[in-house]
Amino acid sequence: MAPGKVVRFGLIGCGEIAVRSGAAIASIPDVAKIAAVQDINEAMAKDAGEKFGAPHHTDAEALLARDDVDAVVVSTPHFLHEPLTVQAAKAGKHVACEKPIACTLEQADRMIAACKKAKVLLSVNYVLRYDSDVKKAAELLKAGAIGKLLRYQCNVMADKPESYWSGGWTGRVKTDWRQSKEKSGGGVLIMNAIHDLDRVLWISGLKPLRAYAESDTHVTPVEVEDNLAAVVRFEGGAIGSVDAMSCARGRESFGNRLYGSDGQIVLGNPLRVFTTKDGVPGLKKDAWTEIPLEKLKGDDTRRAYFADFAAAIRDGKPAPISGEAARVSLALCAAIYESSERKAPVDVR
Ligand SMILES: NC(=O)c1ccc[n+]([C@@H]2O[C@H](COP(=O)([O-])OP(=O)(O)OC[C@H]3O[C@@H](n4cnc5c(N)ncnc54)[C@H](O)[C@@H]3O)[C@@H](O)[C@H]2O)c1
Repeated sequence: MAPGKVVRFGLIGCGEIAVRSGAAIASIPDVAKIAAVQDINEAMAKDAGEKFGAPHHTDAEALLARDDVDAVVVSTPHFLHEPLTVQAAKAGKHVACEKPIACTLEQADRMIAACKKAKVLLSVNYVLRYDSDVKKAAELLKAGAIGKLLRYQCNVMADKPESYWSGGWTGRVKTDWRQSKEKSGGGVLIMNAIHDLDRVLWISGLKPLRAYAESDTHVTPVEVEDNLAAVVRFEGGAIGSVDAMSCARGRESFGNRLYGSDGQIVLGNPLRVFTTKDGVPGLKKDAWTEIPLEKLKGDDTRRAYFADFAAAIRDGKPAPISGEAARVSLALCAAIYESSERKAPVDVR
């Protein structure tokens, strides 16, 4: 693609998150634009087309046949990520797929292989990687501020209203996929906590080896779990715990904490860091330091992600958050789910 060219996106799926991704793309006109949109639900496709001043389709094949589409954003229920990504790759379109990459590792591997074969980029929009606390924590970990990693705690406590299960957070589209294990791959773990796992595994370099988990659907009338706890062993010896609920009355997530031989990092804004080390720039020794960070809105991270993805396409560079990179957190989720079913520890593939 010629340097300086604006990357033309097609939206596949025009539901709740797609309109936010579309708005993020439309807000960076120097590098990207919405060329066309598609949804099997015509009302959604038409509405998104009107929002972004783009033609709409109900058939993915019609959108993929367009010469004025360079890349697609797949924002559909999870079980459709694979078939639509493979279809897009075969049509020669680069793919930015919503998280999680897929419901299963087998699906993810087929997506990665199809994009490789077609020589198109595959990227998964884990936009929270662009949060300022993630960048700062990565910097501190790289500088050895907390020493050797010993422990990771991930705590995601949501309290999802009944309406969520048939219409998401906004009710934009009436659907049932969030309730279905087959269509979503699971509940609060693969839907929400995977964001935390993705960004912490990425910045820490922790490689999960095996997991032991218990999960259940306690109070929500759906197939997927609303309560889950897992213990994880990482390469190099570190231990982790993943606690996630979608029925935590009163909520209050503790978020993400990394403990090292010489200190501790608590993600968030301000970023909180404790170190026993002397001379780490910006940190007090043997004390907590609060580092205030730039306040980003959710859609600032989305905008930054699409700007990066468009630049990678334009400049012929590797995709930000490649399919392989997005597979890491899915592999841990898959081991956690399998362990919970088998009531035994499961190795991460
Ligand atoms: N809602 C959020 O806040 C949020 C945030 C981040 C990521 N995501 C991710 O985005 C993806 C979509 O979630 P959502 O909340 O937008 O769901 P949604 O149910 O609001 O929208 C999904 C859309 O996909 C459409 N669709 C179904 N089958 C299709 C097909 N074959 N071709 C084209 N369109 C089809 C549906 O008609 C619907 O409009 C999921 O991967 C989800 O995890 C959602």
